[in-house]
Amino acid sequence: MLRWLVCFSLLVCVMSQTPRPCESPKAWEGDVHTFDESKKFRRNARITYDEENIRIREVEELAIGSKDDFFDVIRLYREGVEYRLNLRTKVCNVTTLTRHFVPIGFPPNANFSDSFVIGISGFQDEEVSAISFDGVFEGVQFYGIVTTPDCYPVHLTTQSQQFGLAQSQYYNIKAGIPDPNVFIPPPECTRK
Ligand SMILES: *[C@@H]1O[C@H](CO)[C@@H](O)[C@H](O)[C@H]1NC(C)=O
Ligand SMILES: *[C@@H]1O[C@H](CO)[C@@H](O)[C@H](O)[C@H]1NC(C)=O
Repeated sequence: MLRWLVCFSLLVCVMSQTPRPCESPKAWEGDVHTFDESKKFRRNARITYDEENIRIREVEELAIGSKDDFFDVIRLYREGVEYRLNLRTKVCNVTTLTRHFVPIGFPPNANFSDSFVIGISGFQDEEVSAISFDGVFEGVQFYGIVTTPDCYPVHLTTQSQQFGLAQSQYYNIKAGIPDPNVFIPPPECTRK
C-alpha cells in the first residue's frame, strides 16, 4: 500500500512538472527560413552552430524587396570578428562584432506556453514532441518552439520596434559539425 502511494505521488510529481526553458545542443547544422512580410525581407540560410567555440557560420540568401544577394558569413565571437563574403561580387567585409553571442534556446526566465506533437501522434517516423516558450529578451518579444527533450529549434517568432515581426522555421537539422573547416575564413577575406 505504501509503495503504491509513493509511486502515485511520484507520478503526480512527474506529470505536473512544468517544462523548463532549454538551450539547443551545442553543435549542429540546419536550414533556417526567415521572413518579415512588412519589410519584404526573406532569408534562407544554412547554419553551422558551434557553441563550444562560440562561432556561427551561415551561408545565406538575403532578399529585401526585389533585391537578392548571397553571402558566406562567419562570426567568431572569441575573436570578436565577422567575415561577410558576398558570393556574387566576391567582396569580403571584415568587421568587429558589436553584439555578444546569444546561445540558441530560451533565456532561463522564459515562460512555458504549451507542449504538443507536430505531425501525426502515434506514427513513429512522423511525430515530433515539441514545447513552446515565450517572453521578452533584450527588448525583443519572442515565441519559440523546440523539440523535446533535446531542444532543437523548430520555430521562432520575434517582434520589436527596431526589427518588426519576423518568423523563422528550422529544417533538416543534423547533430554535430561534419566539417569544422567551414569556420576558416575564405581567402577573399584574408587577402591583404
Ligand atoms: C561592406 O562595407 C561597405 C563599406 O562599409 C558597404 O558599403 C558594403 O555594403 C558592405 N558589404 C557587405 C557585404 O556587407
Ligand atoms: C514571464 O512571465 C512573468 C509574469 O507575467 C513576467 O514577469 C516575465 O517577464 C516573463 N518572462 C519573460 C522572459 O518575459
